[in-house]
Amino acid sequence: MGKRVILALFTVILSVVAYRLVDLCNKMGVFRELDLVELGNCHLIEGVEHGSEDINILPGGLALISSGLKYPSLPNFNSDRPGQILLVDLNKPTLTAVELRISRGFDVESFNPHGLSTYIDEDGTVYVFVVNHPRNITTVEVFMFEEDQNSLIHLKTIQHELLHSVNDIVALSSDSFYATNDYYFAHEPLKTLEIVLGFSWCSVVYYSPSEVKVAATGFRFANGINVSPDKRYIYIAESLAHNIHIMEINPNNTLTPVKTLHVGTLPDNLEVDPKTGDVWIGCCPICWKLFFYNPEYTPGSEVIRIENILSKDPKVTQVYVSNDSVLQGSSVAIVYEEKLLIGTVFHKALHCELGS
Ligand SMILES: *[C@@H]1O[C@H](CO)[C@@H](O)[C@H](O)[C@H]1NC(C)=O
Ligand SMILES: *[C@@H]1O[C@H](CO)[C@@H](O)[C@H](O)[C@H]1NC(C)=O
Ligand SMILES: *[C@@H]1O[C@H](CO)[C@@H](O)[C@H](O)[C@H]1NC(C)=O
Repeated sequence: MGKRVILALFTVILSVVAYRLVDLCNKMGVFRELDLVELGNCHLIEGVEHGSEDINILPGGLALISSGLKYPSLPNFNSDRPGQILLVDLNKPTLTAVELRISRGFDVESFNPHGLSTYIDEDGTVYVFVVNHPRNITTVEVFMFEEDQNSLIHLKTIQHELLHSVNDIVALSSDSFYATNDYYFAHEPLKTLEIVLGFSWCSVVYYSPSEVKVAATGFRFANGINVSPDKRYIYIAESLAHNIHIMEINPNNTLTPVKTLHVGTLPDNLEVDPKTGDVWIGCCPICWKLFFYNPEYTPGSEVIRIENILSKDPKVTQVYVSNDSVLQGSSVAIVYEEKLLIGTVFHKALHCELGS
């Protein structure tokens, strides 16, 4: 009798784990065949060699790129050098990235930049918020961008127990933001268990100097985050559910679900075109290959665009799908006029002219 119960219990546990594993493989693109979508007129951006995980573009056409991310279990071909913030002027005929100098007093040696967001004050001051993982912890660094000096002045470091595993961030003012946590647990082996069993326990946190709180929860790997042009809605990429969540900002800064869009691929960072409100998403189509890197069979790249995201029928278009080794493992896509920039976790960055 006892043996039978144990056997039955064992079978149940085994089938649950097997079911979750198959689902994870599905989400990581193990069974996916890509239908390639090409774009003409694409060129690599010079000077981006070790990642361009997140990109923001200022209204005048200067792109800020976080580069050199060291993330557990992912390849990094820049291991002995710190990460950087790169600058690309999109008004130039050839796109070349230069490194921004960072003011004294900031520990550049341990700089490990991840998600990035910019906020421009009424007086024109450009604040750059950068998720940082120095020595396996998470901080949010706030810089001021000095355009004529090609430099970042470090203003402050924010560290908080609710901001324990931040992936991406969206600034709402010079000192407030929403941030996604991509894990619920802080340490192994619980982190692996969380991914394998598919717990949807990740949170989005609101931060201001006077209040820090969980604004929404229940995500399976919360990743990219951004805000609608009218600043009323927050968009969140839930990577391991293949979902984009649209949530309304409440007066008390919590978030209320409005709707969820299933995109059928693994979304990473999402950017909002300030002119059209379209959402551009860098996706990881064959994502398991990020973790088992082979230069011959790369994780591929995918860019999707969502038009009319707040309407009843949003239109989701695959703009670019590739499995060649030119660009490996896309994480972000962003447009400026007719230019599309595509960034990657640990590889290069591509620039394509749209409409050509
Ligand atoms: C790329 O995808 C195409 C279409 O699915 C496939 O035929 C080809 O073998 C793939 N190439 C690589 C290197 O994976
Ligand atoms: C960060 O954690 C990893 C894995 O736990 C470990 O190998 C590495 O040495 C740690 N790095 C630092 C700077 O503590
Ligand atoms: C915040 O506001 C929302 C909507 O008005 C409400 O449902 C929620 O209970 C409030 N939360 C807190 C913690 O006050």
